[in-house]
Amino acid sequence: MTAYKTVLPVPNKREEVLEEIALLCQERNAVILAHYYQEPQIQDIADFIGDSLELSRKAASTNADVIVFCGVHFMGETAKILCPDKTVLIPDIDAGCSLSDDCPEDEFKKFKQKYPEHYIVSYINCSAAVKAESDLICTSSNAVDLVNQLPKDRPILFAPDQNLGRWVQRNSGRELTLWPGRCSVHEAFSEEALIKLKLKYPDADVIAHPECQPNILDLADFIGSTSKLLKYTQSSKKNTFIVITEPGIIHQMRRANPSKVYLDVPGIDGCGCNECPYMRLNTLEKVLDCLKHMKPQISLSERIIKKAYIPIKRMLEMSN
Ligand code: 13P
Ligand code: SF4
Repeated sequence: MTAYKTVLPVPNKREEVLEEIALLCQERNAVILAHYYQEPQIQDIADFIGDSLELSRKAASTNADVIVFCGVHFMGETAKILCPDKTVLIPDIDAGCSLSDDCPEDEFKKFKQKYPEHYIVSYINCSAAVKAESDLICTSSNAVDLVNQLPKDRPILFAPDQNLGRWVQRNSGRELTLWPGRCSVHEAFSEEALIKLKLKYPDADVIAHPECQPNILDLADFIGSTSKLLKYTQSSKKNTFIVITEPGIIHQMRRANPSKVYLDVPGIDGCGCNECPYMRLNTLEKVLDCLKHMKPQISLSERIIKKAYIPIKRMLEMSN
């Protein structure tokens, strides 16, 4: 995974890059939004860091002319849908998401046709085209709450993450028809490695993202979105946490409570695949390049923007 990381070996060079980024942000009236799974160097220069819901809210309310979205493609698209008149830059246009890739628009449309009565709830980790085919968007932070607000007599189709869907099902008591998508990163956590860590650190709390498989979630003391996991470590009296999500979040956990201990969990067969290969495509150099050249930009058709805006706006109105 080190191949994806920002490599700025000379300290002076690093300072130069940081200065140039700051200057260009000022010149272009740009704001840098970053997800918690970005490498620490990017998190450190961001104007705002958050989970998917918080980042959408921030994008919707910014006065900046340019949004540099340090996250993955669907996040940049959401920002563009919310602010079509702004320029949305993404440091690496190939920063995709396995969940979004698992749910192509044409197959999703065919799937939908089999369930004409269903209300379509899509997790924000999907393409703008799939959002445009949905009634409501949710994030891992508000999914249970939003599903609980839906009329009881209407069946629900939930896409694209089946693990999140199962967790929502369990917590809302609603029966959901699930699209069979998965996050390649959260699917890879090893139950065996987790059990070994639990035995070694019996006082640690296990905290997990709901994209993990049910066998992993069954072993968790707390389950929530990235922001909720961060808040949990801040307010908990515990000193040690086994963190089952992308380890980028641990950077903020350490910043908030440096004396606490945060353990990440290896993937199956001990692989280092708990870092999201898409998120980690973004580097500090690419942040500078996109600000210099004003590309790559997120671009979407007016038709998709209009259609996808409706379920996203509904989400923002329904979330507290
Ligand atoms: P959050 O909304 O919890 O930050 O999750 C985003 C994501 O991509 C998780 O894999
Ligand atoms: Fe997508 Fe999984 Fe990466 Fe999140 S961690 S961006 S769901 S591939």
